[in-house]
Amino acid sequence: MEKAYQVMPDIEVLPSHFPVPGAGFLSVNAFVLKAKEPVLIDTGMGIDSEEFMKVLESVIDPRDLKWVWITHDDADHIGSLQKILEAAPNARLAANSLGVLRMSTAWPVPMDRVYWLNPGDSINVGDRKLTAVRPPLFDNPTTIAVIDDKSEALFSADCFGAIIPSPARSIDEVAEAVLAQGMTGWASLDCPWVHMVTPGEFNQGLGRIRQIAPKAILSAHLPPAIGKTEQFLELLATVPLSTPNVAPDQRALEQILAQEKGEG
Ligand SMILES: [Fe+2]
Ligand SMILES: [Fe+2]
Repeated sequence: MEKAYQVMPDIEVLPSHFPVPGAGFLSVNAFVLKAKEPVLIDTGMGIDSEEFMKVLESVIDPRDLKWVWITHDDADHIGSLQKILEAAPNARLAANSLGVLRMSTAWPVPMDRVYWLNPGDSINVGDRKLTAVRPPLFDNPTTIAVIDDKSEALFSADCFGAIIPSPARSIDEVAEAVLAQGMTGWASLDCPWVHMVTPGEFNQGLGRIRQIAPKAILSAHLPPAIGKTEQFLELLATVPLSTPNVAPDQRALEQILAQEKGEG
């Protein structure tokens, strides 16, 4: 993990970068929203857990957290969740009910601390309202992205992700063509169903975000992007009719391993 940094007045990024062999890096971001009732959005990867707790503590005393919002129950979003619920006894867990039940098959989620949300539902966190939205792309049925009506940031879960050539703190560090290829490639790989829907149907989902017009897109899997919403929506609009991105196969793995052996 890297050090936390501030991206907007009330928003800290807890950043990590997962090396994707032969491809580059995938940002894995969690966020602390310093609302009147402070919120942690996602909890990183399990492999980072020890460091994650330190990076979190560098921006907030976990006991001050009032909410932990899980965008979905994939491993790269709930890595430190159990530890955090112990370290943050005053926090409630905001998540989709199906996600909570699925997590309950692995560990005893304290149901009396849970707050179930569906897309369209909101919570009030003192100085602002957080609304759950279904992002246009999602790789898990429990996904609830977050719209913060005060900062006007969209915490978009896996949507708008991209594998990028090197770790970055801002989207402005990534060349535009590289970003376009990375974002459309990720969309196709992470959400293969996008090729099964018509561009018209898919555009309805994009339209919902266009209507909300968030000032910032804070994806779990992209450096923070401020003022890029329209550009990103136009990029994603091309995905349903693009050539599906195929995941690397055994031959690719052998090439990667041989290359690593050569380098070592
Ligand atoms: Fe996911
Ligand atoms: Fe993810």
